[in-house]
Amino acid sequence: MVFSLLSVADLDGREFMELVNGAKRMKAAMARGRKTADLNNMIIGILFEKPSTRTRTSFQAAAIRMGGNPIYLPANELQLSRGEPVKDVARMLGGWLDIIVARVYLQDTLVQLAEYSKLPVINALSNIEHPTQMISDFLTILESKGRIEGLKMAYIGDGNNMANSLMLSCALTGMDLSIASPNGYKPSDEYVKKARRLSESTGSKIEIVTKPAEAAKDADILYTDVWVSMGEEKEAARRLRAFKGYQINSSLLKYAKSDAIVMHCLPAHRGLEITDEVIEGRQSVAWTQGVNKLYGAASTLKFIAKRK
Ligand code: CP
Ligand code: NVA
Repeated sequence: MVFSLLSVADLDGREFMELVNGAKRMKAAMARGRKTADLNNMIIGILFEKPSTRTRTSFQAAAIRMGGNPIYLPANELQLSRGEPVKDVARMLGGWLDIIVARVYLQDTLVQLAEYSKLPVINALSNIEHPTQMISDFLTILESKGRIEGLKMAYIGDGNNMANSLMLSCALTGMDLSIASPNGYKPSDEYVKKARRLSESTGSKIEIVTKPAEAAKDADILYTDVWVSMGEEKEAARRLRAFKGYQINSSLLKYAKSDAIVMHCLPAHRGLEITDEVIEGRQSVAWTQGVNKLYGAASTLKFIAKRK
């Protein structure tokens, strides 16, 4: 069976940490621009339906640094944009490429890409998950805190793709997670249940609350994401009203531990989900977190290539 990474739940806790520790090793191996031979001339299709600064560039750069050949496939320049079915496109890519990295609107597009290409597919963000972000995020946590198990993360904001992947990742690794979202924007019951099931073996506590201060209390990590995700632009006005008060700012930071770190998957909107003062402040690790995406991508590609 070809292994695809479509959801964090495709991994068990040991595999998740293998990816995080792999990212740490790739960071050391790639120091000062060094190359590796892990991909041995493999051709990596980078199929993106949505914009990206970090994920696309880091996967392309990682592939090149690892001896692979990335080909960027913007969906709007494929026949997909003129109505060619995903499964027909997937059949073609399956004959030409070795791995597909895809950012899509619908999770089902990833499922079809995997089924009809018969290639390993890596989810580079969908409407419901962002699994590769987790590998570089947990590397950043490990670097900052020296451990993962037993920490408490507070996620403030939208119960979206990031919240889903964070719930599963915390559940797999024994980190407690408290999510504060306004009513109507809390994570789906399906994901909360899935995460709580996974947390039975690690003891991590997955909590959903309404008040940001309650989530932030004694947290080791404060995390936020945009209030309006890609594809939700039409809902922007309603969302900006609903999320007022769900900002990471210096007052909220006071509820967390004094050595808490602040994370943001980026892109950031200063003055909305986070203040300029906090994201530029001494507790922010957002820039390291973003740069670490190269090593998360490298570790994921290596993990997938080994299983091919
Ligand atoms: N965090 C993240 O996925 O960033 P991009 O949208 O720039 O890839
Ligand atoms: N929730 C955001 C994450 C961006 C990295 C989005 O889907 O747009």
